[in-house]
Amino acid sequence: MAENTGGIPRHVAIIMDGNGRWAKRRLLPRGAGHRAGMNRMIGLAEHIFDCGVAYCTLFALSTENLSRPQEELEGLFSLFRSYFPANTQRLKSKGIALRVIGDRALLPEDIVALIAEGERATAEGKRGTLVLAIGYGGRQDILAAVNEAVRRGKEVSMAEFEGMLSTGDLPAPDLLIRTGKELRISNFLLWQAAYSELYFTDVLFPDFSDVEFDRALAAYAKRERRFGKL
Ligand code: IPE
Ligand code: IPE
Ligand code: MG
Repeated sequence: MAENTGGIPRHVAIIMDGNGRWAKRRLLPRGAGHRAGMNRMIGLAEHIFDCGVAYCTLFALSTENLSRPQEELEGLFSLFRSYFPANTQRLKSKGIALRVIGDRALLPEDIVALIAEGERATAEGKRGTLVLAIGYGGRQDILAAVNEAVRRGKEVSMAEFEGMLSTGDLPAPDLLIRTGKELRISNFLLWQAAYSELYFTDVLFPDFSDVEFDRALAAYAKRERRFGKL
């Protein structure tokens, strides 16, 4: 018997890839692709919660992305600076709580302050949780949890270990989507995605429309999740 078939996933995670190629195709600088991606992210997140998804985790910047050229990083950070405050209010009015995972020590101080303010202002949101992964790496997440377990000085259970991950209080993603053609996880939610249903699309993130998302949902609805059982 299938453990869980179809329905609306409770938690959707998305690797938002392809912004640079989207810009290149239009002979635009990569930053224009990131701007288009950021605009799409906001509309898409609203659609995802309208579909009845409770948790949405978006991979915006990996630990490894922080080794990109300074100019590209500065462009990304200035986008965060302009988008964070405006969208904090928008999320708040829609009852969505914002959470950010990743290593804040890797981010500029003013961005860390904007993140903290966004989380504080939306903390009461009950309709859903939007998790942004910024300066995030799955291996780093696991390693931090291991080190926390070592500090506690005794063996930990699976549930205790999961609680030490940055996603500790969230359910595992049911559906993991990657846009932009590549068929890999690129150090996203390595532990948490153990039984996620995977969906890959060639569509570049700025073109990943609500209709494209609905296609992923329809594909998910047909999956039979067995979790290793019969
Ligand atoms: C994804 O788009 C966004 C980030 C990683 C910041 P890319 O910037 O990786 O776009 P491509 O893969 O070069 O097209
Ligand atoms: C994954 O995309 C990270 C994000 C989308 C934030 P990358 O563009 O960094 O992945 P690789 O380098 O193609 O594996
Ligand atoms: Mg990429």
